[in-house]
Amino acid sequence: MKKFVLYIAMSIDGYIAKHDDDISWLSIVEREGEDYGYHDFIQSVDTVILGRKTYTKVMSMTDEFPHKHKKTYILSRTPKANEGNIEYYNGNIAALLEKIRKENTMQGIVFCDGGADIVQQCLQTHLFDTIIISIIPILLGGGIRLFSSEYPLQRMELVRSATFPSGLVQVWYKKYEE
Ligand SMILES: NC(=O)c1ccc[n+]([C@@H]2O[C@H](COP(=O)([O-])OP(=O)(O)OC[C@H]3O[C@@H](n4cnc5c(N)ncnc54)[C@H](OP(=O)(O)O)[C@@H]3O)[C@@H](O)[C@H]2O)c1
Repeated sequence: MKKFVLYIAMSIDGYIAKHDDDISWLSIVEREGEDYGYHDFIQSVDTVILGRKTYTKVMSMTDEFPHKHKKTYILSRTPKANEGNIEYYNGNIAALLEKIRKENTMQGIVFCDGGADIVQQCLQTHLFDTIIISIIPILLGGGIRLFSSEYPLQRMELVRSATFPSGLVQVWYKKYEE
């Protein structure tokens, strides 16, 4: 079954962006020749799911959508025309994941690119198989929380952890299986 993976960066105090969507603080860990495993991760992805606000932010920073060669679902409640590999989706994320798994039986990963609104809905129904969090050495003190409100308890198992000279700490957790 295709794995559904959250790969995201947050501040030590749990924020993914400032209130004004500023993510420029992520640049404090930028180092020549160090991508914190992103290249390898993204190579294994064939489908991307992201919220409309995250998409808008990405497109404010670049001319070209970075995942244009992968099937992409942008969640939005406002109907919009599909473009290329991009399909707009309005509804239940568990149902979307089920549809993706039925239609695409290849081994690639389904990447949840955030933001917090999407993550919150996925946590409600234990959708993530793996959660990869890069902790950025900064305290933002406010902003958009990665874990914004309550959801059911779920036990996870540590797969990998890595520390980097920049101070970034990356943790990989998968669903706990008895
Ligand atoms: N640090 C990181 O690694 C990281 C990663 C990702 C994002 N971010 C940041 O997070 C911020 C955005 O996060 P966010 O939580 O505010 O927004 P978001 O999750 O990116 O997008 C929320 C939007 O998704 C749509 N939506 C949500 N659930 C839906 C559903 N079930 N069906 C249909 N549409 C649905 C709605 O769009 P409409 O309003 O169009 O209806 C909603 O306004 C940005 O600043 C971004 O840069 C940071």
